[in-house]
Amino acid sequence: GSVAVILPAAGSGSRFGDEENKLFALLRGRSLWMHAAETLIRRQEVGQILLAVAPCDRERFEQQLLELPHSDRFRIVEGGDQRSDSVAAALAEVNRMPAPATDEEAVDGLPPRIEWVAVHDAARPLVRDSDLDAVFAHVGHSRAAILATPVTGTLKRSCPAISGGSLFESETINGITFDRRGMWVAQTPQVFHLDLIRQAYQRHRGRSATDDAELVERMGHPVALVPGAADNLKITYPEDLLVAEALLSERLKNSSR
Ligand code: CTP
Ligand code: MG
Repeated sequence: GSVAVILPAAGSGSRFGDEENKLFALLRGRSLWMHAAETLIRRQEVGQILLAVAPCDRERFEQQLLELPHSDRFRIVEGGDQRSDSVAAALAEVNRMPAPATDEEAVDGLPPRIEWVAVHDAARPLVRDSDLDAVFAHVGHSRAAILATPVTGTLKRSCPAISGGSLFESETINGITFDRRGMWVAQTPQVFHLDLIRQAYQRHRGRSATDDAELVERMGHPVALVPGAADNLKITYPEDLLVAEALLSERLKNSSR
């Protein structure tokens, strides 16, 4: 495969509230992070997965990794303070390690060089193959494509409550409705041509961004929005894990029918 997947996994899960990284919380009996990792490593386009982890978690990731198929195609790198630092650390390693050839490729000799990078939150266990098909297909002509879903709620922008002429007299936050037409929520994977994402990270070294696509947009390069399933949740709070359990059971029930 010519895609390197970066799985940022070096957070601490502070909003989740466990003592350990939320990525070790169990979903259907196995660590949360292993779900997306398995879906991705089974894809034929994926040649390697770079897992960015915090030093204190490294050993545990290394051990759990051995339970996944093709564990020789994973590489663990040290993450950083911010998610973007973790992605940058992994980006620096792409193509340093020639990906082992997959079975089909071994027939023709050398594995293809990595040409694409897909960044996927390790905390999004439910990403579907059909959405991966769509985003990988799209990136071939746009060089930058991300999964996203249309905003469903009503958006309000907060504005300072000015009552009696003073900003401080009231704790009320007033809201003004923000037109949601044309508004999307970004998900992952976010897929880019390797040269493009490297350039974006180089130019914006140290500056923070909430996702990888933002850095590419800031270079003036368009990023395609590929509509994805709304259930590609990111596990942030403990209740998200309950929802994920329910969605996963339903999926397994349907697929065995
Ligand atoms: N991440 C990372 N390096 C960081 C921070 C986050 O690799 N310095 C990863 C997380 O491990 C997670 C993904 O980025 O897989 C999305 O981040 P988020 O959901 O915010 O996870 P945490 O930062 O761990 O959670 P919190 O913000 O609640 O502490
Ligand atoms: Mg975070």
